[in-house]
Amino acid sequence: MQHLLKLADISSEEITQLLNLADQLKYEKKNGIEHHHLKGKTLGMIFQKSSTRTRVSFEVGMYDLGGSALFLSSNDLQIGRGEPVEDTARVMSRYLDGIMIRTYSQEEVETLAKYGSIPIINGLTDYCHPCQVLADLMTIREHKKVIEGKKLCYIGDGNNMANSLIVGGIKMGMSVSIGCPDNYRPDTEIMKWAAENGNFVCTSDILEAAKDADVLYTDVWASMGQEGEAAVRRKAFSGYQINDSVMAVAKSDAMVMHCLPAHREEEITSKVFEEHAVEIFDEAENRLHAQKAVLVKLLSDEK
Ligand code: CP
Ligand code: NVA
Repeated sequence: MQHLLKLADISSEEITQLLNLADQLKYEKKNGIEHHHLKGKTLGMIFQKSSTRTRVSFEVGMYDLGGSALFLSSNDLQIGRGEPVEDTARVMSRYLDGIMIRTYSQEEVETLAKYGSIPIINGLTDYCHPCQVLADLMTIREHKKVIEGKKLCYIGDGNNMANSLIVGGIKMGMSVSIGCPDNYRPDTEIMKWAAENGNFVCTSDILEAAKDADVLYTDVWASMGQEGEAAVRRKAFSGYQINDSVMAVAKSDAMVMHCLPAHREEEITSKVFEEHAVEIFDEAENRLHAQKAVLVKLLSDEK
């Protein structure tokens, strides 16, 4: 594993290894055991979109590991004024030990990896959000003890989160169902791969999707960059919500997850959100531990 550009690039075994390392790093942090695996290393963090969790967890993660992190807003970088990503990649490779980038196009992240000579981590694109799903799988394993054989149901927009959850869930042996409007389905190629490689369903009927689910997951109806479509989307997604009716058809001990930020009374009711706040905020916390595992795996000289 050289980069983390999308989950499709890494094997199920590599995902399991990352989750095991994440558990270990979480245990060590909780018990005050410090391991400076990345002493002297610097991570550049390029942000073309807003972030709370990704920014703070990567920055804290680097400090925990004995390294440092630079927050680089595209508003201040020459990349924001049109300097090609190919050149940015080659320049930054001379200064940094790794780059985490949050941007719009997946192609930009892939180009950064192609032209740079240091590990690149995808901190979210319009296409996928691999770091989030590693933390999600870690949280599912923490709460359910096993991942394989569990049913993961995602309700809402077939967006970056849906795409990564499908790939991560199927790779880890979950059955995955998506409940979304017909016009907002996940990526066609990813759905085709999922149907060929596991137990996968995509339907517009959310009660069918949620039936007997062990994990219910949702995300905003309008992602970053889609603010102009918010009104149209509110109409299209009306009813695509995790609420008591959906909970009633899932398993009685089903957990609820949300990558956050959440829009209460849109994709999830306040009631369900608060009833499952422990799971949702464990999930947010696990961003830190899962990403530290990714950073150690990609940036450490110890191997
Ligand atoms: N879930 C997530 O990636 O949150 P941020 O947008 O705050 O980083
Ligand atoms: N789908 C959301 C996820 C935010 C973490 C977005 O892209 O804005």
